[in-house]
Amino acid sequence: MILVTGGAGFIGSHTCVALSAAGYDVLIADNFSNSSPERVDGISEITGKSIHCVRADVCDRGAMEELFSRYPVDGVIHFAGFKAVGESVAKPLEYYRNNIDSALTLCGVMSERGVRKLIFSSSATVYRADNPMPLDENALLGCTNPYGWSKLMIEQILRDLALSDPGWSIALLRYFNPIGAHESGIIGEDPSGIPNNLFPFVSRVASGEIRKLHVFGSDYPTPDGTGVRDYIHVMDLAEGHVRALGYISSFSGVEAFNLGTGKGTSVLELVRAFEKASGRPVPYVLDDRRPGDIAVCYANTGKAEEKLQWKARYGIGEMCRDGWNWEMRRRKG
Ligand code: UFG
Repeated sequence: MILVTGGAGFIGSHTCVALSAAGYDVLIADNFSNSSPERVDGISEITGKSIHCVRADVCDRGAMEELFSRYPVDGVIHFAGFKAVGESVAKPLEYYRNNIDSALTLCGVMSERGVRKLIFSSSATVYRADNPMPLDENALLGCTNPYGWSKLMIEQILRDLALSDPGWSIALLRYFNPIGAHESGIIGEDPSGIPNNLFPFVSRVASGEIRKLHVFGSDYPTPDGTGVRDYIHVMDLAEGHVRALGYISSFSGVEAFNLGTGKGTSVLELVRAFEKASGRPVPYVLDDRRPGDIAVCYANTGKAEEKLQWKARYGIGEMCRDGWNWEMRRRKG
């Protein structure tokens, strides 16, 4: 059985669908601080299987010990954590405490129980901003905000853990920009309040819920002047976790992998693709750069292709199609 912490969240829920389809028995642990139990029902609806789910905070050692004693967990995918970059700058102590404490607690209990297969949800934000593109896994590391540092610190903790005991098998998955939704439209991303990220913001402009998009920066050294990112369909990302789980079953140590498409898309290219997929206009204004943003970020995906035998299948049009399908269902409630 695979324990998925934060399994009701955006990437977690889609990964549970992919795991279940691949034949894994899935157990979700989530405190629903930024998600809802309805998401778990959505996973069951898609997979046609009932999903084990426990409401628990991963920082709660007693709850984790109980969970490991009740269920036959043989591997863990750790998604649970705070993830808003801006909020992490405002509340650094909360971010470090929650993200690092949950990882330490989880690994402590895993160690006690002899469960030493772990996939950690990391981010491309662990790479320094001045690396040449595309980014490979050996690019220089360093962050600009507490959220990113918490991911990088956990990576280091896991490397030290694996050094201390060769029984550990750990994959660090560095995500680029996950967007889109499951093709059924039953689950997707649902940020509360005004979205910080481009894709959910654009979806809500297309639906009419928000009047217009502010494009943060139009003077970057990119073909159209707007920021370029490596957007990846969340179901491709989910499949990457299934492959990583297979990989660590016969591997010992720690290995980092980029999960991206290797292809850069600008803000305006994404806007046009969304307009095409939705048939709706996405009005925008060109605005100042957002502090902390970089011009271009995209992955070298060679290592994941070679070692995980994984490659993203979906293009930006499919990401927009599935994201729009979800947005329409979300609005209907
Ligand atoms: N953007 C806009 N308008 C908006 C929001 C975003 O123009 O309203 C632009 C940004 O300037 C950037 C691009 O859209 O050029 C993507 O921005 P996102 O906020 O969607 O994503 P980021 O690349 O800034 O950050 C994402 C995740 C982080 C993660 C990082 C690592 O949100 O958690 O990728 O690659 F750390």
